[in-house]
Amino acid sequence: MSETIQLKIGDKTYDLPVIQGTEDEKAIDISKLRDLTGYVTLDIGYKNTGATKSAITFLDGEAGILKYRGYPIEQLAQKSTFLEVAYLLIYGELPTAGQLKEFQTKINKHTLVHEDLKKFFDGYPSHSHPMGQLTGLISSLSAFYPESLATPQTPEAIDETIIKLLAKMTTIVSWIYKKSLGHPVIYPQNKFDYVTNYLYMTFGQRTEEVTIDPVVVDAMNVLLILHADHEQNCSTSTVRIVGSSDSNLYSSISAGISALWGPLHGGANQAVIEMLEKIKADGGDTDKWIAKAKDKNDPFRLMGFGHRVYKNFDPRAKIIKKACDDILEKLGIDDEVLDIAKRLEEVALKDPYFVERKLYPNVDFYSGIIYRALGFPTEMFTVLFALGRLPGWIAQWKELRENKEPIGRPRQIYTGATTRDYVEISKR
Ligand code: SDX
Repeated sequence: MSETIQLKIGDKTYDLPVIQGTEDEKAIDISKLRDLTGYVTLDIGYKNTGATKSAITFLDGEAGILKYRGYPIEQLAQKSTFLEVAYLLIYGELPTAGQLKEFQTKINKHTLVHEDLKKFFDGYPSHSHPMGQLTGLISSLSAFYPESLATPQTPEAIDETIIKLLAKMTTIVSWIYKKSLGHPVIYPQNKFDYVTNYLYMTFGQRTEEVTIDPVVVDAMNVLLILHADHEQNCSTSTVRIVGSSDSNLYSSISAGISALWGPLHGGANQAVIEMLEKIKADGGDTDKWIAKAKDKNDPFRLMGFGHRVYKNFDPRAKIIKKACDDILEKLGIDDEVLDIAKRLEEVALKDPYFVERKLYPNVDFYSGIIYRALGFPTEMFTVLFALGRLPGWIAQWKELRENKEPIGRPRQIYTGATTRDYVEISKR
């Protein structure tokens, strides 16, 4: 007999079913609540509301656990590659060597971007924000592949679009970086693996052969793996709700990129470095800035700190913090903001304000320090987050369609004016 809870409204009692996930999470299924009681629930920001059932990513905020399709993030970050993790998230199982080779080969067929898209791209001002360019360019891909707009989409057609998007994302992201430097774009070399090809298009030069440092390739794989999915966060929920209207993959992902851009979400990695630079320029007085973060009359927030779900530690932040030391040492870089970041973390984790509110470093707190050490400008950081999150967004969009979920349409509680009659002020 499955578990139920009882809801008492007035003199009536209602039985509501409880559903339990494979990791023993429990939810009260309220899908029939309004029909039964006339009531809806209100949960602004969806802090307590499950929007779906998903088999892709599991995270436990209290225990600091994150697993992709059951594999602990620590193992994947240490041993896997980003393309292998992308395959795992999208298709549900780790690929065999043959499947991974076939996946890479299919992607290699689509790494070029239609030259007409470059005309859109050339229209962007060279210093316009990379996330604005990315949102527009990814959505514009649908103009070149009208077959991706047909409904219904066959599984084969969806897979073709998935491969095209994975392939072209790296080319477009490298283009955006090159534009910011005023440099000519570099075309993909399909002899390279997915991440190396991206780094080649980013740091390669037309005038000379550039070898990509394996330390940079390894660091990039780790960072992209750590960002690859994170269950129903703001941008993923955006991708799912846009996809639920039967909108095509390009427009759904473009909407996710827009949501990620916000400084409270993926934009935080850029905001963290800007904050650390501000503290450094101000003399590095971390106590002063911690006090500002605690002051309710001061709009300053400690960017990269706090998380809606992680209330103990963000396992990704732990891995990135360690990787920071390793990579900066290997690259022979001494970055003062890393010391400031560590001091901020040390002070904050002893301060009752942060401890009481369970505010710890999140994935964005240290990631920017590595991106900067790898040679990326600050405004590219959130684009790199999007590059990492792409397979997760795709997997979640694909799952929603395979599960034939209904169009997302939340309810509300109206608090505006009640009925009133129109009074003409002038004859029409
Ligand atoms: C990401 O959801 C995901 O999974 C996202 C993500 C992913 O992989 O997709 O993990 C990626 O978005 C990480 C988060 C990056 N954002 C930041 O680093 C921005 C700074 N942090 C926040 O603004 C905040 O912590 C959020 C947005 C992350 C979480 O906000 P919540 O859950 O809505 O919590 P809240 O804003 O209600 O804060 C609770 C309390 C408040 O104080 P009180 O009203 O209780 O007195 O904590 C305070 C807040 O003022 N607080 C902070 C703070 N974060 C929360 N105070 C100072 N500095 C901060 N950073």
